[in-house]
Amino acid sequence: MTTSIIDSTDLSGAAECLRNGGTVVFPTETVYGLGADAFNDNAVDRIYAAKGRPGDNPLIVHICDLSQLKFLTDNISPKADLLMKNFWPGPLTLILPKLPTVSDKVTAGLGTVAIRYPSNPIAQRLIKESGVMVAAPSANLSGSPSPTLCEDVIDDLYERVDYIIDGIGCEIGLESTVVDVSGDDTVILRPGAITLEMIREFIPEARLDPGLINADTVPKCPGLKYTHYSPKAQVIVVQGDKAAVRRYIEKSIKDFDNTGVLTYGAYDYPYAGLVLNAGDSMRDYAHNLFTMLRQFDKQGIKTIYAEFQTEQGIGIAVRNRLYKAAGHNVVEV
Ligand code: TXA
Ligand code: MG
Repeated sequence: MTTSIIDSTDLSGAAECLRNGGTVVFPTETVYGLGADAFNDNAVDRIYAAKGRPGDNPLIVHICDLSQLKFLTDNISPKADLLMKNFWPGPLTLILPKLPTVSDKVTAGLGTVAIRYPSNPIAQRLIKESGVMVAAPSANLSGSPSPTLCEDVIDDLYERVDYIIDGIGCEIGLESTVVDVSGDDTVILRPGAITLEMIREFIPEARLDPGLINADTVPKCPGLKYTHYSPKAQVIVVQGDKAAVRRYIEKSIKDFDNTGVLTYGAYDYPYAGLVLNAGDSMRDYAHNLFTMLRQFDKQGIKTIYAEFQTEQGIGIAVRNRLYKAAGHNVVEV
């Protein structure tokens, strides 16, 4: 299959492609998405094929106007409405009861549908010009980190999709917060840039899915049960007091060339094959995590030590993705 890589000046070809059942990778404020017409089952099949994604993992439907909601759900609770009013467009996905006309291919047979209204202007223009609602998972091969740069998308999906729109970087760098508002409770199934604290300002009783806290409870968000969400290298998270973390990593590095370190704040490990700085704040860490994991892989690094400190806010989302990348291999110092 040939893939056209385009910039965002003229989206008419990509929009037409979506309308005709093709696949288009587009930037969003979180990560790149691999889109197809949510109401065309053959098109949705192409998403699963391009990603190599298991069919039991449902997709998010992306909209560009609240008037599209009526084609997806007829059951928007006052709490769901409150979250839409305050956080849409933006990095928030809401789980709502679905209408029977929403395909089982999109929802993996669940009675609910995931809906997101992205704020990225290129994403909005594409959806609008296409005239369809766009089912889109993150635009990575199933199992690898979500792409936040066009080159990451090209590495994974070149010649597997019809179009790739180069939108430069993604502002946030981690996937959207997924909140289940389909029942009486308001539950965060996947943490993201819209944090628990932000949601509690409007819905004080909102809570995190226990599966996000205990490693032994099965998460409700089907995608979160897959542990392979990671670079090829083995990741070891080292967390605690910063000086102790650094001493531990310095002592642990043995195979210089094949060992990398992801630092939290600039620091020099002279004996590591590759040292990358995730930044000085959890916002930076979120922004850099996925693309840096890919950089370690490109350089053939086999073991990555990741400096970490537990934090609140978006730090909850960073921890969730980092622990997954590490297969919960975490050293507390
Ligand atoms: O930021 C994002 O959300 C990106 C961009 C492209 O919008 N998309 C994304 O999609 O991360 P994906 O498919 O990689 O992750 C969607 C997550 C999966 O964990 C999936 O299991 C969950 O949302 N999900 C989808 N529909 C669901 C439903 N009806 N109930 C519970 N979880 C659902
Ligand atoms: Mg994904």
